[in-house]
Order: sequence, then structure tokens, then C-alpha cells
Amino acid sequence: MSGSRKVMVTGGAGFIGANFVRYWSEKYPTDRIVVLDALTYAGNPANLESVAAGENYRFVHDNILDASAIDELMQQEQIDTIVHFAAESHVDRSIHEPDAFIQTNVIGTNNLLMAARKHWIDSDNAPTTHLFHHVSTDEVYGTLGPDDPAFTEQTLYAPNSPYAASKAASDHLVRSYHHTFGMQVTTSNCSNNYGPYQFPEKLIPLMIVNAVTGKPLPIYGDGSNIRDWLYVEDHCRGIDRVMNKGHRGATYNLGGNNEWRNIDIVNQLCKSIDAAFAANAHLAEQFPDAPAAKGKNTESLVTFVKDRLGHDWRYAIDATLAETELGYEPQENFESGFQLTLDWMLNNEAWWRAVMDGSYRDWISKNYSAAG
Ligand code: NAD
Ligand code: DAU
Repeated sequence: MSGSRKVMVTGGAGFIGANFVRYWSEKYPTDRIVVLDALTYAGNPANLESVAAGENYRFVHDNILDASAIDELMQQEQIDTIVHFAAESHVDRSIHEPDAFIQTNVIGTNNLLMAARKHWIDSDNAPTTHLFHHVSTDEVYGTLGPDDPAFTEQTLYAPNSPYAASKAASDHLVRSYHHTFGMQVTTSNCSNNYGPYQFPEKLIPLMIVNAVTGKPLPIYGDGSNIRDWLYVEDHCRGIDRVMNKGHRGATYNLGGNNEWRNIDIVNQLCKSIDAAFAANAHLAEQFPDAPAAKGKNTESLVTFVKDRLGHDWRYAIDATLAETELGYEPQENFESGFQLTLDWMLNNEAWWRAVMDGSYRDWISKNYSAAG
């Protein structure tokens, strides 16, 4: 695709969505970006502060469960491209309350597809080109043993958590709109992301926040579970490649070639925090409750806790197709990406404090009316 696009980004106030909006508005400044986000607990307009002033940008506080609101917005903005991030995304929450995952991830995705079909396929005023890019996850493939080959695009779906099952359902819906209605779609299935603006319920930001505030670092089970980590900007670059060069109707796996056991990640994170405090005396004043501020090792906070129910043991992505067909290649390795993330968290205490103490929610309710 080329020329100026009218891009709707769902879930653009969340972690990856906000990084994507920043990335896209810098790289394609003539594209119009319309963020559609319900501002659930995971959505935060502060994540988009740096793009909010742009004239090609609009934020719409609405819910993908509201089919008529999507329809109206697509008509009003003449949207020709949808990048669909909006989802309930946390596995632990899906174990406790699966219903919201089915609503947003399955019904919400179908609402978007129905609106896109109406405006792009059934309408007399359909744009000459269109694209629905669906952002999905490696969790749809299930879990791997120690010697299993990494997930390819041919790996059979075997989702194990309600979250993964809801994402798998949405992937199938997207595929079906291509096959049945000829909608131009692409899907990317990505491994674990980390980086700026990640909600501190996910492993890496949670551990950083707990480490500098002197709270336990809870490791599920024995910490031997493995994830394949990708710096969030590399995910955004990968989505860009898929959208601009990928075959319509195809699925591409995106990953970091960076498999780590959880316990090794946390130990490494503890060492990096100790080193940061040793190099910068100011950090001990900023975070007086951190063990590193009191001459202790951060590792002293590591605590093994009850395992997650149905905890997938290992994820690993084989991104050969995206590499060979699209030229996809991550720019950060885990060391560089992690350092960027740690520096960002240490320099943005106000952001995560507001998220952790809930004060950002008060600000949202004062500034945004309830979404449908
Ligand atoms: P996130 O939880 O940080 O953000 C989700 C965003 O969606 C929030 O802004 C939230 O307000 C919005 N949202 C939720 N329900 C909505 C609804 N009904 N209507 C409109 N907006 C709604 O999620 P994330 O980690 O940024 O993940 C984004 C997408 O990427 C998800 O689809 C997820 O499945 C996928 N993904 C995530 C990862 C990862 O490691 N985080 C990896 C692969 C794929
Ligand atoms: O693989 C892609 C997926 O990665 C995305 O689709 C999901 O949206 C995203 O949340 C992530 O899922 P995980 O369940 O892998 O991420 P999480 O950060 O919750 O956990 C990473 C690993 O760390 C996992 O094995 C569970 C473990 N863990 C997690 C937390 C929050 C702990 O040991 N302790 C914790 O406190």
C-alpha cells in the first residue's frame, strides 16, 4: 500500500498500540490516524501524549462492542486501513474472568470485520484499496516441550488459556472474511513483547516496579517456563513489513529469537538494577525502599509462588517466513532492549506510579465520558 492512508488503530492507548501509533505517525506523517479505544484498565491516553497534538491524529473514546459507533466512525473518517490491537490481553485475568475476553476479542473483532465488509466490499463508495491487519499472538499455537521445533505458520492451533482461545477464534474470523468475502487481510502472530508503556501486570514491568519499591518478585512455579522476547518497536517494524509487503490473506509469525527462562530473566533484571544503582547514587534517593538502595542484592526479593493454572511451558517463534519474504529482522537484542526498557521505567516513575495507584483512572474519568 502507498499514498496517504486513513488508518483506524483499535486499542491504540494500550502498550503495543501506543508504541505503534508513535512509530507509524513518525514514519508515515501524511497518513491520518484515528485511534479507537475504550480506555479499559489497560488503556491510558498518557501513552499517546507525544502524538496527541498532531493534526493528522484523532482519539475516539469508544468500544469495539458498539457496532454502530464503529460503523459511524468508518463512514465519517472514510477509513481504508484497520490495525486491530484492541483486546483483553492478560492471561491471568482470562483465568479469573474469561467473559470479557470472549466479548472484546471475539465479538469485538467480528463487529470490526462486519463494519469493514460493509464499507469496503458491499458499498458503492468502497475505497480502491483496503487492509485489515489483525494483531495476534503465538499463544494460539499452545505450548512446546524442550526439544520441539519453534512455532511456524503451519503449526496447528492448540490454545490453552481462555485468552489464547479467544485470540484463536479472532484469527479464524479474520481468515474467514478473506476467504468468504475477499477482504484484504493480514495477520501477525507475535511472541512476548516488552518495552516502554507496558502495563505493570506483565512480567518485566511488574518485576522492575517491585524491585525498586522493595516488594517481592513473584515467580510462578519453579520459574523454568520459557518465553521468546521481542522489543516492542521491533514488533511495530514487523507489523509495518507485513502490512506493506505481506500477501493478502497470509499469516506471519514475528519473534525475537530470544528464548529465556523466567527465572533467568528475573535474575538478569536483578543484576541490571543492582548495577544501575551502583552507577548512579541518585537512584538510592529516588527509590529508598529498593534493596539496592540499602546495599542488598535485588535478588533477595525473588519469591516462588503458586503456579498459573494451565501454565504453558514454552513458546518459541520461527520467523523465517517474515525474514525471507518481508526482510523482517529485529534491531534490538535482549540486552539492548532490556536496557532501554529499564532506563525508561527508571526515568518515568510518575507514569507507573499513576498506573499502580489508580490515579490515572481518576484523571480519565474526569476527562473522558464513559464509552459505550
Ligand atoms: P494492552 O492490554 O496493553 O492494551 C489493550 C488496549 O485495548 C487498551 O488500550 C484497552 O483500553 C483497549 N481495549 C480493550 N478492550 C477494548 C474494547 N472492547 N474496545 C476498544 N478498546 C479496547 O494490550 P497489548 O499488550 O498492547 O496487546 C495489544 C494486542 O497485541 C492484543 O491484541 C494482544 O493480543 C496482542 N499481542 C500482545 C503481545 C504482548 O506481549 N503484549 C504479544 C503478541 C500479541
Ligand atoms: O506470547 C505472547 C503473549 O505474551 C501475549 O499474547 C500476551 O498478551 C502477553 O500478556 C504475554 O503472555 P504471557 O502470559 O507469556 O506474559 P506474562 O508477562 O503474563 O508472563 C510471562 C511469563 O512470566 C509467564 O510464564 C508467566 C510468568 N510470570 C508472570 C507474572 C505476571 C511470573 O512468573 N510471575 C508473574 O508475576
